[in-house]
Amino acid sequence: MKQIIIILTASILLPACKSKQPETLKSVLQDKFLIGTALNLEQIYQRDTLANSVILEHFSSIVPENCMKSMFLQPKEGEFFFDDADKYVEYGEKHNLWIVGHCLVWHSQTPDWFFVDSTGKEVTRQVLLSRIKNHITTVVSRYKGRVNGWDVVNEAILEDGSWRQSPLYRIIGESFIDSAFVWANRADTNAELYYNDYNMADCGKRNEVVKLVKHLKDNNIRIDAVGMQAHVHLDYPSISEFEKSIEAFAAAGVKVMITELDMSILPRAKYNVGADISTDFEYQKELNPYVDGVPAEKDSIWTSRFLDFFDLFLKHSNTITRVTTWGVGDADSWLNNWPIPGRTDYPLLFDRNYMPKPCIDSIIGKI
Ligand code: XIL
Repeated sequence: MKQIIIILTASILLPACKSKQPETLKSVLQDKFLIGTALNLEQIYQRDTLANSVILEHFSSIVPENCMKSMFLQPKEGEFFFDDADKYVEYGEKHNLWIVGHCLVWHSQTPDWFFVDSTGKEVTRQVLLSRIKNHITTVVSRYKGRVNGWDVVNEAILEDGSWRQSPLYRIIGESFIDSAFVWANRADTNAELYYNDYNMADCGKRNEVVKLVKHLKDNNIRIDAVGMQAHVHLDYPSISEFEKSIEAFAAAGVKVMITELDMSILPRAKYNVGADISTDFEYQKELNPYVDGVPAEKDSIWTSRFLDFFDLFLKHSNTITRVTTWGVGDADSWLNNWPIPGRTDYPLLFDRNYMPKPCIDSIIGKI
């Protein structure tokens, strides 16, 4: 009799228990926006099983941290290396993730040959345009229908609203952006196309990016979203300035994506260095105070500010279509080595052992 009761009780309760999946970031955010992460090669090749399970449980979108940058895709003129990028795209397709390509045109992490001729002299406007066209067309066509959206141009505008004096701008002028978007669109009319930049809460940059979006639209050149990198700090930028930029980009007629979110807990060498990867400062012990862990009080300041940003993203989920963190676990973060090499930072949602931080539960609890 006792046995029958146990079997009966189990059969009534089990189906209910079975259907209750644990909630994850991607499950709770599915009606709000995509939640993404940047993948390094370890993760693309699935060498770490713990990282892999965290990615697949919590994230609905991916972006390659490095392997689709031009210095890796086209190390020599006309000689493309696609192995890592192919693997990245296969991974995304296999797991049904929203696949982002990063990035087609950027002044950094471009191969040495790109801006010069065989004698080392800067190339002409015509030559540079044809190199950009060839790079974009080859790469975007290869992944046509497979990569969902491309960062077409990265970091062309400075905080004060002036144009970055990169070889791209000096040799071609502002129109390199128009051409890049036109060629990307021709190679895949279905992939989304983005302009991506850091320090987007700064008023000068915000206004100039709005002008850029309007200029592209007025000229019938497709741009689908603006990417706000969001390499943020405990004291910069203010949430209200960040919000003004989300609203300004939305008003210009594009979607907004938070594309490289991380929040450093470390003291800065200098006020507001942005995310220019060529910046570097000398190591000083006092700028690396948390080698053995973060004091609880500091940790809760970090969590509460991270949640403030998340509240902002949720408030604007009609405009924001994706929030991507720049890495999975703290040990993966580029901020351990930039802008000062050899530090220990804690900027991401998962700790050094890929364990979820308390703010994940709070985010899940909010929705
Ligand atoms: C960074 C990577 O995380 C590092 O591994 C690499 O050494 C330098 O670039 N803005 C961008 C990203 O758009 O591509 C940069 O990624 C970080 C700043």
